[in-house]
Amino acid sequence: MAESIWTVGRVAKRCGIKVSTLHFYEEKGLISSSRNTGNQRRYKAEVIRRVSVIKAAQKMGISLAAIKQAFATLPEERTPTQRDWQKLSSQWRQELNDRIAYLERLRDSLTGCIGCGCLSMKNCPIYNAEDKLSVEGPGPVLLERKRAQAGQK
Ligand code: FES
Repeated sequence: MAESIWTVGRVAKRCGIKVSTLHFYEEKGLISSSRNTGNQRRYKAEVIRRVSVIKAAQKMGISLAAIKQAFATLPEERTPTQRDWQKLSSQWRQELNDRIAYLERLRDSLTGCIGCGCLSMKNCPIYNAEDKLSVEGPGPVLLERKRAQAGQK
């Protein structure tokens, strides 16, 4: 399959981002481009997948540094194959699973006490009488406790 070459504007449009964001990703070493005779950036089509993965990962709260580390497993000199992406995803699997578990627990905990000290929910006296959990530290102690448990699995 001949590798199609895209302009910066076309990539930005297809990915739904600003041209300046593409430049930023390039500055951060997350994507790369070549230059044509007019010194304009040109991208391989596979950059669209990389940008899409970056955007999705950022939505999950994954840092650009972590994304860059994961992308380091992808080949630069050729278009990553499904196998390359599988290697990346297995490396990222645990972090993504932890985040998914945390989001599920947040979703499931929103109707009950999260141990934050507000004592405003009906079952706070059961789980956090007189804010006894505050001795464990700041923030939603019960939610963080579940997060730690999720991370240990
Ligand atoms: S929800 Fe805040 S202390 Fe229970």
